[in-house]
Amino acid sequence: MAEPPVLTKSLVGELAICGGRPAFGAPLHVGRPNVGDRVRLLARINDMLDRDWLSNNGPYVKEFEARIAEKVGVKHCVAMCNGTIALEIAIRAIELAGEVIIPSYTFVATAHALQWQEITPVFCDMEAEGYNIDPGKIERMITPRTSGIIGVHVWGKPCNVDALMRIADRNGLKLLFDAAHAFGCSYKGKMVGGFGLAEVFSFHATKFLNAFEGGAVVTNDDSLAAKMRLMKNFGFAGYDEVIYIGTNGKMTEASAAMGLTNLESMETFVAVNERNFHAYERGLGGIPGLSLMRYDESESRNCQYIVVDVDEEIVGLSRDEIVRSLHAENVLARRYFFPGAHRMEPYRSHFPHAGLLLPETERRAKRTVILPTGTAIGADEISAICQILRVLVENAAELRESLAGQRVAVPGGTRKLRDA
Ligand SMILES: Cc1ncc(COP(=O)(O)O)c(C=O)c1O
Repeated sequence: MAEPPVLTKSLVGELAICGGRPAFGAPLHVGRPNVGDRVRLLARINDMLDRDWLSNNGPYVKEFEARIAEKVGVKHCVAMCNGTIALEIAIRAIELAGEVIIPSYTFVATAHALQWQEITPVFCDMEAEGYNIDPGKIERMITPRTSGIIGVHVWGKPCNVDALMRIADRNGLKLLFDAAHAFGCSYKGKMVGGFGLAEVFSFHATKFLNAFEGGAVVTNDDSLAAKMRLMKNFGFAGYDEVIYIGTNGKMTEASAAMGLTNLESMETFVAVNERNFHAYERGLGGIPGLSLMRYDESESRNCQYIVVDVDEEIVGLSRDEIVRSLHAENVLARRYFFPGAHRMEPYRSHFPHAGLLLPETERRAKRTVILPTGTAIGADEISAICQILRVLVENAAELRESLAGQRVAVPGGTRKLRDA
């Protein structure tokens, strides 16, 4: 099927938000899946069906675990059905309890995996520069109930692992990492996966490496790995013998087949993401008030996220006005992580004033926009997106005036766009 044409915009009146035709005939999503060689995938699925072995620690799951552990350079990889269950199991296996300090600028699953087990997530602020937890603000959040810290490598850029290790050691806390975004990334030359007691990957369809749905806990600790293997399989230690409380966290053979196939294309995915990153870098260059998050070129990186900071004072438009304008063009940019986990339920009700301790998170959550990348898009689309952004910024005053008059649907009626 032919791709729908891309309209290039140069005048404010051509913008879809002002009544023009959308630049893209079909929506451009953030997080379209990276899929490797279909023929290899289908061959694996056929083998799986011939074998009649669809789940319960089958050969593909074992192979996937071995490949991941090898890539990351750890002793054990315990594959699971998704990253959230992997987090829950890791949290239970390392015996976190009471309160655990996490960044609020993360996907809500980091907090939910604790709260689900009646452990209180205590939200810590993020760095003023960068997107990770601010180590300088962690110790003030420690109470006698604190049992650990979960560091998150947001957007695949590792958090300050050394500082977190020092804080954990000094205060007798357990340290776990949510590495959902960081498969294939390194910190000081060492692959993410080998830090803390354990690290957790997500292989969700939107992630750099996907297994349809999937996750894994990686660790160098033999007894921890053995415990998690029991936990992900209802606590079964053999036929009819349950020796531990467990859940169903098993990865299917179909997921492992997808994961293995995509692992074979990992270098291509990185190359495409990097090429897209550089296309955005060129396209956004010189647009005042829009700053693209950079990746450290001395480290391994997956470049899976195109993260743009919008400085409303300079741009003359808010991040939300930009997102609305992009959506009108069929560019489904996302406001991650908005509004911050502390502003979602049940945390918003538990800690109504948490925002007072999270000034950087509050600020960043209002300024960040994530743009589409991955194997589903190329240079033409990126150039058109950047051109839309340029027209938006160059005509900010006029556009703001026109947007202010527009009404949009909100639950229970319509509102002026600026107030929605
Ligand atoms: C930071 C973070 N943690 C945890 C998760 C949960 O992973 P999953 O979707 O595989 O359950 C995600 C992604 O969805 C995430 O972005």
